[in-house]
Amino acid sequence: MRLLSILGVAAVSISGASAALAVEGEPDVNSTLVQEHLKNREKLIALEKTHRQDHIFRQSLSPTAKRADEIVQAIRQYEIDNYWRVAATPDGQVDERFAGEPFPLARPLIGNTTLWSVVKRMPKGALLHAHLSAMLPYEKLLEIIIQTEGMEISVDQPVDTQEAKMNATINFSHNNGTVTTDEKKIDSADYTPNTQIPIKTAVDSFDGGEAGFIEFIKNKTTIPPEVSIRHELGVDEIWRRFQACFGPTDTMIQYEPVVRKFYQRLFEDLANDGINWVEIRSGGSSGKLVHDGDEEIDPDLDAWWYVLVEEIENFKATEAGKKFLGARIIWSDARGKSRAKITKSMKIALQRKQNFPELFSGYDLLAQEDLGRPLSDLAPELVWFREQTEALNLTIPYFFHAGETLGDGNSTDDNLFDALLFNTRRIGHGFSIYKHPNLINQAIEQNVLIEVCPISNEVLRLNEDILHHPLPAMIAHGIPTAISNDDPAMLGQDVAGLSYDFYEAIQAFDNLGLAGLGSLAQNSLRWSNFEDQSDKDWIQDIDRGADGTSTKAKHIQAWNQDWEDFCKWIVDEYGSQYPAEETL
Ligand SMILES: *[C@@H]1O[C@H](CO)[C@@H](O)[C@H](O)[C@H]1NC(C)=O
Ligand SMILES: *[C@@H]1O[C@H](CO)[C@@H](O)[C@H](O)[C@H]1NC(C)=O
Ligand SMILES: *[C@@H]1O[C@H](CO)[C@@H](O)[C@H](O)[C@H]1NC(C)=O
Ligand SMILES: *[C@@H]1O[C@H](CO)[C@@H](O)[C@H](O)[C@H]1NC(C)=O
Ligand SMILES: *[C@@H]1O[C@H](CO)[C@@H](O)[C@H](O)[C@H]1NC(C)=O
Ligand SMILES: *[C@@H]1O[C@H](CO)[C@@H](O)[C@H](O)[C@H]1NC(C)=O
Ligand SMILES: *[C@@H]1O[C@H](CO)[C@@H](O)[C@H](O)[C@H]1NC(C)=O
Ligand SMILES: *[C@@H]1O[C@H](CO)[C@@H](O)[C@H](O)[C@H]1NC(C)=O
Ligand SMILES: [Zn+2]
Repeated sequence: MRLLSILGVAAVSISGASAALAVEGEPDVNSTLVQEHLKNREKLIALEKTHRQDHIFRQSLSPTAKRADEIVQAIRQYEIDNYWRVAATPDGQVDERFAGEPFPLARPLIGNTTLWSVVKRMPKGALLHAHLSAMLPYEKLLEIIIQTEGMEISVDQPVDTQEAKMNATINFSHNNGTVTTDEKKIDSADYTPNTQIPIKTAVDSFDGGEAGFIEFIKNKTTIPPEVSIRHELGVDEIWRRFQACFGPTDTMIQYEPVVRKFYQRLFEDLANDGINWVEIRSGGSSGKLVHDGDEEIDPDLDAWWYVLVEEIENFKATEAGKKFLGARIIWSDARGKSRAKITKSMKIALQRKQNFPELFSGYDLLAQEDLGRPLSDLAPELVWFREQTEALNLTIPYFFHAGETLGDGNSTDDNLFDALLFNTRRIGHGFSIYKHPNLINQAIEQNVLIEVCPISNEVLRLNEDILHHPLPAMIAHGIPTAISNDDPAMLGQDVAGLSYDFYEAIQAFDNLGLAGLGSLAQNSLRWSNFEDQSDKDWIQDIDRGADGTSTKAKHIQAWNQDWEDFCKWIVDEYGSQYPAEETL
């Protein structure tokens, strides 16, 4: 009743007397009551849409963008009906296929769709939530390591059986030529544990050669498709496997020449995917560096930061990087650590922020929320850290992971309350927020954006396929959101960039479309932490969006132009196949 009165319409009422007379008649298609019902229905649907987070963006679409949106809608519908909808045959020759099926099953099929070609080319803005060691596919990283002079490998046990392969701890290191060994094969029973072997030797002697070696490392660092779809394994089991994937990556990105090539490769892949700004979660204990021609980690903790600063500039100077705006680091500590260890790490972080004010963006805590310390338990550290930053006149905003759970009212879910009270500028995942009406209002009020990682959430057992993801609910409630990829190299995407997450979203959700996807991409820039800002300036720039001359406004203006060009490309490329509705 309340909604209807907002609309200024009365509910349709049918009197009992006329109902008795109507027994002999037929339903009247053109009755005024039917017309009135249909009109009210339209109004109610339109009212609903005004609450959407992308409402304003949709209202301001140019005619070209509107036309592109219509074309993409037609492409999507055509492919749902003619490409994805396939019935399984009883003989098992053909598997059932449907739009929105689990990502690991859909992945090999996505590349052949027209919608994929569209999504690939889209300007995606910023990548706001990704973990450094899981951003670039491991084949690419291994290729760099194998080709780098002096790189060696050791394992803590011979990897001659499948079980030993899975259990072994791997260590990549650089050797100046000071250590030599007769050992040639890590997958032989008589390999002496922890003996360094030149990587080329180990790879060439490995059963199956380079392909076998790469498969061995990939088996240890990625969740394979057949495991990804086993939702009966539950959240804890998959997290055990997922957490184990990070082990071998520790020493992969440590030797300076490898690290430098790694960044170039990563930034190039991101730029090719239409991403021009990235905020990387890293730092903490992982920022170690062994210099070119050296063997030991440089005790100077600034070394890792210098290299990244240089490589960002190097990439921006290349042809591929000419639109690349740069990268910043969100310092991330493992949330399972003791108060003493977190405090120690925070002190190191404060020093890095003073030395690298531009590169150092903010602070976060990571790893499985369920098992780590909740934010409420970390409150003393977080309050202390805030006091230190204020005393030192440093701007280190929080960007907390929170609510990455199916729970409701337990400590993982409750992290959302702490995150908002600690004035987080964005929330990583925020999967459970849609169940909390007051928190939703609070997030909207505080202008907090949720970094949504659809494929990560699916593989880590929060939604069994994209169709069950709460992103449409978040958008409908007006919560600011952007799409991120979290750990694409580990969780089965096997490419850097956002295209698969973007594809999954537009393909799955009826009410997103190109316009909705565009709004999410633009949001990623509106909520990028391009430079240190007071809370007041941060909020003001988000509110102003493309208006004005701030750094953020300029970047959004540039994206708006790319978006128009992209929409025009869609119209030019596909317009004739999908004629405008009025000309049909
Ligand atoms: C309803 O109205 C339309 C146009 O106003 C007319 O073409 C149609 O024949 C009408 N249908 C009936 C069942 O009266
Ligand atoms: C995708 O397209 C390629 C080349 O046209 C074709 O060989 C392949 O079978 C297609 N794959 C699927 C799953 O349709
Ligand atoms: C592998 O690890 C499991 C669990 O820790 C242990 O039971 C098993 O003996 C190990 N196998 C090998 C070959 O090291
Ligand atoms: C890896 O191997 C190198 C060379 O043997 C050694 O210095 C380093 O401590 C090892 N690192 C780990 C994490 O085991
Ligand atoms: C990788 O894992 C698969 C599945 O467990 C296994 O069949 C394969 O032999 C493994 N490959 C290597 C090189 O370890
Ligand atoms: C490795 O070689 C460089 C010079 O090429 C030298 O400065 C460094 O001390 C050496 N490191 C070790 C551990 O031998
Ligand atoms: C704090 O830093 C800002 C710039 O980041 C500067 O304008 C201001 O003067 C500094 N205040 C103090 C007390 O150092
Ligand atoms: C919260 O609830 C979810 C869903 O039952 C569960 O997976 C998770 O382990 C719980 N977290 C804690 C800290 O109990
Ligand atoms: Zn994350």
